[in-house]
Amino acid sequence: MSVRHFLSMMDFTPQELVGLIRRGSELKDLRDRGVLFEPLKNRVLGMIFEKASTRTRLSFEAGMIQLGGQAIFLSPRDTQLGRGEPIADSAKVMSRMLDAVMIRTFAHDTLTEFAANSRVPVINGLSDDLHPCQLLADMQTYHEHRGSIAGKTVAWIGDGNNMCNSYIEAAQQFDFQLRVACPEGYEPSATLLAQAGDRVQVMRDPHQAVAGAHLVCTDVWASMGQEDETAARLALFRPYQVNRALLAGAAEDVLFMHCLPAHRGEEISEDLLDQPFSVAWDQAENRLHVQKALLEFLVEPAYHYA
Ligand code: CP
Ligand code: NVA
Repeated sequence: MSVRHFLSMMDFTPQELVGLIRRGSELKDLRDRGVLFEPLKNRVLGMIFEKASTRTRLSFEAGMIQLGGQAIFLSPRDTQLGRGEPIADSAKVMSRMLDAVMIRTFAHDTLTEFAANSRVPVINGLSDDLHPCQLLADMQTYHEHRGSIAGKTVAWIGDGNNMCNSYIEAAQQFDFQLRVACPEGYEPSATLLAQAGDRVQVMRDPHQAVAGAHLVCTDVWASMGQEDETAARLALFRPYQVNRALLAGAAEDVLFMHCLPAHRGEEISEDLLDQPFSVAWDQAENRLHVQKALLEFLVEPAYHYA
């Protein structure tokens, strides 16, 4: 069987995705009960980070250790990748030594090129275009708090960035309606919007997007790599701050999510993360559990060697 990769939400079937988030909750329960579960003994995950990370690095590294394996942090600064060794050559070499590779990168093409040359599964730990691992955690978190998200309305407020693009894919895979409120010129991928059809609506007014919504999400206004646009973006995005006044128009049982890190006072009001309807800390924790489910799914168990 050819090797599976997880570069986007569209790489898995809806049934596989639902299975992963269920399994994430099961693995969370095992850990909560102190049960040792080490199916990936002797397995090694390589983690290439071209951008900074707290949650993604920690959750993959801790996750591999908890599953009985190991993770190796690879910075382009300290590897030949940073000195121009081609992606394809690096993929051929690394995938002969590792059991899976996670990559956080700028250009999404880096992921597709690496995957095309890799013998082992490649996982997207965030690119300029997509952040599918975060969506697994978000979907697990919604499911744990409210049950199935199918048929619900989700509002994305702010930048049509990598997270927003992954929400467009998730809307198709998990069967929910998505409303995106963003300033003109900051829309998500036109290709993904065309693919999603009437499942996703783009609008300017955040109040219209939030009206009756069951889940409201946002993210920073300047993503990694856009630091020099920060001042211009702060001014332009000001009307898109998510705060209690905006959320007053949402459904009574609305949940608020933010993939973090957050900039309090910018895309969210100072106190928002600590409100009862905010599930941002659970969302962050679930990165660990659902990515363990992903690793379990993608990486062959070590006992195949026995
Ligand atoms: N949400 C997220 O991916 O966080 P990090 O940038 O800390 O990995
Ligand atoms: N959109 C943000 C997400 C960080 C997890 C970024 O790309 O920087």
